[in-house]
Parts: sequence; C-alpha cells; structure tokens
Amino acid sequence: MDSNVRPESMQRITTEALANAFIDEQVKAIKEQVGDKKVLLALSGGVDSSVVAALLIKAIGKQLVCVHVNHGLLRKGEPEQVIEVFRNQMDANLIYVDAVDRFLDRLAGVAEPEKKRKIIGDEFIRVFEEEARKLEDIHFLAQGTIYPDILESKDGIKAHHNVGGMPEEFDFELVEPVKLLFKDEVRVVGKALGLPDNMVYRQPFPGPGLGVRCLGAITRERLECVRESDAILREEFAKNGLQGKVWQYFTAIPDIKSVGVKDGKRYEGYPVIIRAINTKDAMTATVENVPFELLEHITDRITHEVEGVNRVLFDLTPKPIGTIEWE
Ligand code: XMP
Repeated sequence: MDSNVRPESMQRITTEALANAFIDEQVKAIKEQVGDKKVLLALSGGVDSSVVAALLIKAIGKQLVCVHVNHGLLRKGEPEQVIEVFRNQMDANLIYVDAVDRFLDRLAGVAEPEKKRKIIGDEFIRVFEEEARKLEDIHFLAQGTIYPDILESKDGIKAHHNVGGMPEEFDFELVEPVKLLFKDEVRVVGKALGLPDNMVYRQPFPGPGLGVRCLGAITRERLECVRESDAILREEFAKNGLQGKVWQYFTAIPDIKSVGVKDGKRYEGYPVIIRAINTKDAMTATVENVPFELLEHITDRITHEVEGVNRVLFDLTPKPIGTIEWE
C-alpha cells in the first residue's frame, strides 16, 4: 500500500478522543521508527511544524532536536513564543538561531518579489544545513508535511517541501507523522497535545513571512513598520471579535512616502495598507466588511504608535483581481 495515500477507512479527526487515539498510535509508530536515534526538525512555530514537534517530544523527548531559525521576517512575538512553549514549557531540545542580519543583508536592495522569495528559501536551507552539520548522530529529519501538500505536489500545483532540498550527503530518513491529515485535523491534534490556541488556530502566514509584505526592497525601518502595524491590527481584531472569524488579515507597506503633517510640521511617512479577506481555499477571496469605526480606531493607533507611518489605507480588492498578498 502507498503510504502517501490516505486510506478511505480513515476517520476524520474531529474530536479530542479521536485526536488522542491518533496521538497514541503515532507515538508508538515514531518510537518504533526512530528507536534510540536522533531526529532533526525545523520548527517555524507554524501549526504544522509545532504539532510535529509536540508529537515527537511526547514520543522521544530529547532525542528530538528542534532548530528555530529567526530570519527577521516573523511576526511580533513569534520567536519568543517558540522559545517559551517548546524550551520552557515542553522542555524540548531547542536550538535558536538568530539569522536576522544574514537574511536582511542578503535581501538588501532586492526589489523583485520572486527573487526575494528565492533568497529567503535558499538562505533558510543554508542556515539549517549549517546547524545540521554541527550536530552528530542525526539519522532522521522530521517534517510537517500535511495531506494537501502531498496532493498538490502530485498534481504539480506546488513544488512543496517544508524544508526544501537538503544536500544528499545528509541522507536523512523522513519522519512525517501528520502527512495524512488535513489542516483542520492537525489543529484538533495540536489542541489535544496542549499547544496554545494562538498557535493552533493561527491564520495562514506565508513562508517568506513579512518579506512579501514589506514591498520592494526590504529595509529594517519599513520592516519594523510592518511588524508593529500587524501587531496592532491583530490585537484590535482579537479585541473586537474578528479573530477566528476573518480568514486572513495583515498589513503591507509599499516603498513610497507621502507628505503629512505632525505637530504642526511637515511629516513624510509611509502608508500602511490593511488587508482583511475571507476565503475557503485561497483561490478566490472576498473582502471582510470591517466596521468603519474600528478602521478609524486602528488608523489612529497605527499613525500614533508606529514611527514613520503617516497614512492607513484599506484594501477593497477581491481575488481575483488582486491576489491576497501584495507580492
Ligand atoms: P495569494 O497572494 O497568492 O495567496 O493570493 C494565497 C495564499 O497563499 C499565501 N502565500 C504564500 N504562502 N509561501 C507561502 O507559504 C509564499 O510564498 C506565499 N505567497 C502567498 C498567502 O498568504 C495566502 O494565504
């Protein structure tokens, strides 16, 4: 039987009891596969890699080595949460790599979106590879592959691989405990494993992170504007009952300045664009009807709290014609 095909008899995991049964079964399978060997995992803090980490920690504890690469393009508070949850609460073997300067230096002056994506993906593999080289006795590579990844790469929609191509010299055997699960099932399993709600139910976030929301050539100044304005947007959506209701929401910053006025003086600053959309499959999307008063309040906060920003715009464009991200 092809182990990459979900058996028709497999029940959809919708309850805690079903999740616990899956967890017990996977813990046993992981122990059998891995024995007393070590497993390496790139832990981004996204749902899939976090659930895989939690499953492996339950099964083999410190035989799992998690590597969290901070590429400087994560949302506010994300690297800190990975350290808090996995190192402090779950007592995992976690290597934190501060690669912010490396990524931002390589990205400096690069404005073309696909080139930016390529650099980010490529540099990620380099950093991860360097960490893998420093470790001894690693036999396995764990990945947060999920079932849609398998289906989409079969159909040629995505050349998907969570960690990308590791050089052949490593010769790792893969451990992919959630590869037959759909996203909603991964979330139910994550919840049953005790991961925090804001990790389990988080909205989709692109692999290249804030890199595709800091439009054009990334600068540290505009990157901080994106990160801070995104944090305010998320906080306000959570406070006003929109978290969990709106499928995806974020801010983006174009590489232009406009004239403004602050404290009676000319104040040139960047505009922040708010995007809030609903969709089923990300192929088409409609714009959330965000209450005008809330938009005014968010505008007030962003323009007062985020240094360098003097305007806030709301993107009214559906997909198509606009894509969800701006790059
Ligand atoms: P678009 O912009 O194509 O986005 O309408 C559809 C969904 O995909 C996400 N997205 C990405 N995810 N790597 C990812 O892992 C990427 O390069 C990337 N670009 C877009 C986007 O956030 C949306 O959910």
